[in-house]
Amino acid sequence: MEQGYVRKPKFYGVGVGPGDSRLLTLRAVEVLQECQVIAIPRSKMERESIAWEIAKPHCPEGAKILELEMPMTSDQGVLQAAWEKAAKAVMGEINQGNSVAFLTLGDPSFYSTYTYLLNILKENLDPEQIETVPGITAMSAAAARVNLPLAIGDEPLLVIPGTGSLAEYRKFPNLVLMKASRNLDEILKVVHKGEVEGILATRVGQERENIRFLNKNEELEKVDYLTLVLLKHKS
Ligand SMILES: C[S@@+](CC[C@H](N)C(=O)[O-])C[C@H]1O[C@@H](n2cnc3c(N)ncnc32)[C@H](O)[C@@H]1O
Repeated sequence: MEQGYVRKPKFYGVGVGPGDSRLLTLRAVEVLQECQVIAIPRSKMERESIAWEIAKPHCPEGAKILELEMPMTSDQGVLQAAWEKAAKAVMGEINQGNSVAFLTLGDPSFYSTYTYLLNILKENLDPEQIETVPGITAMSAAAARVNLPLAIGDEPLLVIPGTGSLAEYRKFPNLVLMKASRNLDEILKVVHKGEVEGILATRVGQERENIRFLNKNEELEKVDYLTLVLLKHKS
């Protein structure tokens, strides 16, 4: 190593996959073992952070845990304040020479709070101090659990987050509905038409995993937030 060379501390966004501690990449494990600080996003409603439960077996015992509060709200002012507070806490560690691994459920680049934090940190860190470590998405894990492809050949795949009418998409060959708990009525309208094969996947890879096929007469009143739906048009 060059004399006097000091390696700058880094900020990592680490995808920990959907739930099973064996579904982390080798790079994710390597990073977790190297970092002095593990940053855990947490909403007040969560008793335990799921991302932490997944990553824990791979983290060194002495690693410092930095809990970052991420409120479950759509209030942009509240969210921005929380991300700025989290970025400040991360920068506090980096300025002391500590590398920080921020845990993300699934993949960090796929509907994750990580992006908001990253955008603030990009203004404070050199590009070589930032690394995003991809993870297995919940939708990939759900498809794998039922041994079905998400898409094949020339077929398109459409991912829809959250709420809204699904009428215009109901004939689409492959649909993934994220945050499905917020859109059950619309999902059921499509399922009741009997033109699709549907899979409802809750907490894939976790202790309370529940994956089932949706039938034409399905009735669902409530499902866990960590639920997604895969729909395939029968054509
Ligand atoms: C904010 S997004 C996070 C997506 C995540 N970054 C990924 O790569 O899958 C949250 C949504 O992802 C889906 N999700 C995340 N983890 C899941 C799991 N283990 N099982 C089923 N759905 C999951 C649910 O639809 C949930 O509402």
